Amino acid sequence: MKEVSVSRRADATPHASALIEGLRDIGYSLETAISDIIDNSVTAGAGRIQIITETYSDEPYIAIVDNGEGMTEDELVAAMRPGSQNPLVTRSAPDLGRFGLGLKSASFSQCRRLTVVSRKAGQTCAAIWDLDDVAERNEWAVQLPDDASGIPAVGHLGTTGTLVLWQKLDRLTGGFSRNAAKRAEVINQRIAETERHLRLVFHRFMEEAKPLRILLNGRILRPLDPFARKSPATIADPEERLNLIPGDVDIQSFTLPHYKQMSKMDWEDIGGPEGHLKSQGFYLYRGKRLILYGTWFGLCRQSELTKLSRVRIDIPNSMDADWKIDVKKSSAQLPPIVRDRLKKVIERIQAGSKRTFNKRGQKLVDHERLPMWHRIQADGQIRYRPNIEHPAFAAFAENLPSDLRRGFFNCIALVGASLPIETVHADMAGAAEEIVPDRVDEDTLAQAVRATLSVLSEAGKDMKVILSLMKDVDPFRSAWEDTQRIIAATIETKEKEWSPC
Ligand SMILES: Nc1ncnc2c1ncn2[C@@H]1O[C@H](COP(=O)(O)OP(=O)(O)O)[C@@H](O)[C@H]1O
Ligand SMILES: [Mg+2]
Repeated sequence: MKEVSVSRRADATPHASALIEGLRDIGYSLETAISDIIDNSVTAGAGRIQIITETYSDEPYIAIVDNGEGMTEDELVAAMRPGSQNPLVTRSAPDLGRFGLGLKSASFSQCRRLTVVSRKAGQTCAAIWDLDDVAERNEWAVQLPDDASGIPAVGHLGTTGTLVLWQKLDRLTGGFSRNAAKRAEVINQRIAETERHLRLVFHRFMEEAKPLRILLNGRILRPLDPFARKSPATIADPEERLNLIPGDVDIQSFTLPHYKQMSKMDWEDIGGPEGHLKSQGFYLYRGKRLILYGTWFGLCRQSELTKLSRVRIDIPNSMDADWKIDVKKSSAQLPPIVRDRLKKVIERIQAGSKRTFNKRGQKLVDHERLPMWHRIQADGQIRYRPNIEHPAFAAFAENLPSDLRRGFFNCIALVGASLPIETVHADMAGAAEEIVPDRVDEDTLAQAVRATLSVLSEAGKDMKVILSLMKDVDPFRSAWEDTQRIIAATIETKEKEWSPC
């Protein structure tokens, strides 16, 4: 760069009130804000973190209390300084901090008054940032109260630890600043939504031998393992390690159990409010803390095919700059070297699930197995057409006079041509597991069973083969018990008809 001579400088200290208000809007949500406060507690060695909410009073608050190492007054004043630590300084491996901003920016994103009370070596100290006070005085001066004993939730502090208290919750009132009951309802709802996020983000700390306990209003939160590793039906691929200059990246792919292999409650818990389709993808951990989840980083689409695939990526905090971890620790970008490797991981997953799906789908449209539908792939298009040669149709049509027979086949062709593909597609994208074939009544099923049975036995197939052919195709597959009963009854009747006595 060419030298430019400078002989004068002017004071450009930021206006405290403007800058501190600006810190409020860097995009935190309640869940990412609370997670950032909890990060500090984890870094301070806390084993127990309590979230206490008082929503019904005239002065609602949210308090986060830990039993970590606490801070002296000097440390506390330094912690209250926006930008208390340079992001370029190397941090110790378990440190979940980043810019020296989190405590302040996460708090101000939700409230106008932040109080921190900390206890260390028998001393208790407190400091307050009140945005109304900063606006009035327009100076970077934090308040140091003379006595901490009257501060809400301070009684929850133990021998060492820190209380982070949010008051003036202007961002959480949902517009009901005067209606206390409605306001409480909004805050409680938001807190309830946060619960799942915390169970997910800190699940690895909660699963350790000496587990981290997070309590929400006295209730211990259960860890939520996004890979359902405790389920015997989860498939875990071997772990791969990428040795890079700033640190190692560990990658491991998981295939979640099929929804039929899990309880409905566990399936919904793991899928979350957005469902499994939206929760597939990479799960990126920095340290053991989940930063980002449910995204393929633009490398492929979230599709039905890969709905059960989740890939764990572990990165150390020495790679923050390479992954462009943001202040909120809720977004990251893929470094190019990692990108290539992850592309390969995705290709492998896609090939694997295509095979599984094709195998399952093949049986349903396999010509050998007398399917009700044909899958016809031609000219770059895929069509589904009812199989009018299916014994259930053919046997019935045979008994019709020829003019009606023609009309009957026309009706079936019409059903095929008006298959509501778009609706099925939209439903599949939402909750594929809720789409099931229509139930047929006993009479319809019996007619299809008898017709199929007679065609197959006339073709010389033995009973074992017939059963195996029918078991995989609908409508028999989804009503297999009834089908077996009808088969047994049909055989019994036939045997009676044949035997002379
Ligand atoms: N709960 C806590 N217990 C002990 N120290 C804390 C706690 N919260 C914050 N601190 C101190 O305050 C500093 C600033 O926190 P923060 O603004 O979140 O930035 P960062 O986490 O990026 O360092 C931390 O580095 C830590 O020294
Ligand atoms: Mg922090």
